[in-house]
Amino acid sequence: MKHLISVDDMPVYHIENIICLADDYKNNLRYGEIDRVLKNKILLTDFYAPSTRTRFSFEAAMNYLGGSVIGSENASEFSSVAKGESLYDNFRVISGYCDVIVGRFIHEGDAKIAADASLVPLINGGDGSGEHPTQALLDYFTIKEYHPTERNLVVTFLGDNLRGRTVHSLAKLLAIVKNVKTINFISHKKMTIPSHICEFLNDRGVYAELYCGMEHAIIKKTDVLYVTRTQTERDGINLSENEIKKYHMTQDLMNMLPENSIVLHPLPRNEELPSSLDNNPRAKWFEQAWNGLYVRMAILKYLCHPY
Ligand code: CP
Repeated sequence: MKHLISVDDMPVYHIENIICLADDYKNNLRYGEIDRVLKNKILLTDFYAPSTRTRFSFEAAMNYLGGSVIGSENASEFSSVAKGESLYDNFRVISGYCDVIVGRFIHEGDAKIAADASLVPLINGGDGSGEHPTQALLDYFTIKEYHPTERNLVVTFLGDNLRGRTVHSLAKLLAIVKNVKTINFISHKKMTIPSHICEFLNDRGVYAELYCGMEHAIIKKTDVLYVTRTQTERDGINLSENEIKKYHMTQDLMNMLPENSIVLHPLPRNEELPSSLDNNPRAKWFEQAWNGLYVRMAILKYLCHPY
């Protein structure tokens, strides 16, 4: 695996190796020593769209592993792309200054252009409405912490399934590792999961069930509820507040979930996930975000020092 653009780039053994390594890092950061295995390596973070978790957790991960970090948090304004340089040229050039790059991109498909240009491993930190493979890995890591052995989990995505790149990547990853039979997608009909994701799931023997209204019967049998915000910064879908509100997380929905279920959200959140739910025992969204550190340490080690 040279680049990490899509979860399609990862066979099951890569996924499970990264998860296993992340688990070691989580234990070692708490109780032991970290081998500074990336000493003398440089991570370059080139972000064309805003980020809190992805950029900071990658930067912290590289620091823990002994490497250095250079980068731009606002490359649209501060790189020479602002002067008309192509994305290809930009990534070709910067790949000569570092050992690994994490990029975040405004448009779907830009991560592939960057990877084609880059001479060093390129990690997609999110490309428009496309994919966010490192988020999918940390989501899967969190799911495995609470459901380590189950093979027939009921996973339900609630929210903007059309433009939520984390939804696309996690759904595909769950189909690759085959610990689900059916994935439920609940959303307004204008925000339904793209057909190519359903085809990807069906080709791997996973049924995609689509619901365009809140389905309490589905919530009641869900092991992992994955909530996402409406991606209003992307192409316009005009929905009234009342229409969107039908897909918000509530205390009532929390109460309907089975006892051992968990609720995840990639964050950032808006009104769809009220902070009044933060202390519910099923609420795992902050743990999920913190797991990003260990998983991204594992990804960097895997790509930069694979032995
Ligand atoms: N979940 C996620 O990608 O968060 P950021 O946009 O803050 O990186």
